[in-house]
Amino acid sequence: MNIPDIIIAIDGYSSTGKSTLAKLIAGQYSFLYLDSGAMYRGVTLHALENGIIDNSGAIDEARLKTALETLDLDFRIDGTYIGERRVEQEIRTLEVSSHVSPVSAIPFVRSFVDAKLHAFGQRKRVVMDGRDIGTTVFPDAEIKIFMTATPEVRARRRFDEMKAKGQDPVMEEVMKNLLERDHIDSHREVSPLSRAADAYVLDNSDMTLHEETVWFQGLCQGKFGILE
Ligand code: DC
Repeated sequence: MNIPDIIIAIDGYSSTGKSTLAKLIAGQYSFLYLDSGAMYRGVTLHALENGIIDNSGAIDEARLKTALETLDLDFRIDGTYIGERRVEQEIRTLEVSSHVSPVSAIPFVRSFVDAKLHAFGQRKRVVMDGRDIGTTVFPDAEIKIFMTATPEVRARRRFDEMKAKGQDPVMEEVMKNLLERDHIDSHREVSPLSRAADAYVLDNSDMTLHEETVWFQGLCQGKFGILE
């Protein structure tokens, strides 16, 4: 099956499996996968490593703004980089997860990341996941998907993912972090997480990945009249 040169925007709550589906679509249809959350995580990691976020979680916004002027944050084929350092593991820790939502709510951080995302979107054949891709970053994306699942299912997925990476998560902390991020991401002033009016909702609480891809194929067939 082939689909035209379009942008596919996948938004939704934390740990709904956005990146899993996005990567699968990218592989199946030869699209470029871009993880916008990784950019916010990269900024957060840099802030933590440079003492711009203190132990109480307070963010020194003036210092962060200056730091962004020289921060060389990039997507490469094998993941996220700060300068020549690959930070794919470091940006996925619970420490980064618990500071990333307040960082991503800062308007100048969003402008910094948006500029990078727009540059990548110029090439089309892109599938990008995040919180505001279909509403703000690419409001004209030809396909918009809004993913959701119950908090229990999401917490379990995140827990299993962290375990598989050799981390030692505590379920209560994972759930707390998830709900806190949902709240901050949905209630911030700039580009809050919300469903675009023209997004297709995918609740995958009780779906297998295979069922999700079948759902996506059905969506493409309906939209572009493409048959396998
Ligand atoms: O998708 P993720 O969990 O890796 O994203 C990390 C955080 O980044 C998330 O809690 C909110 C923020 N984010 C955002 O505000 N806008 C996006 N487009 C993507 C992520």
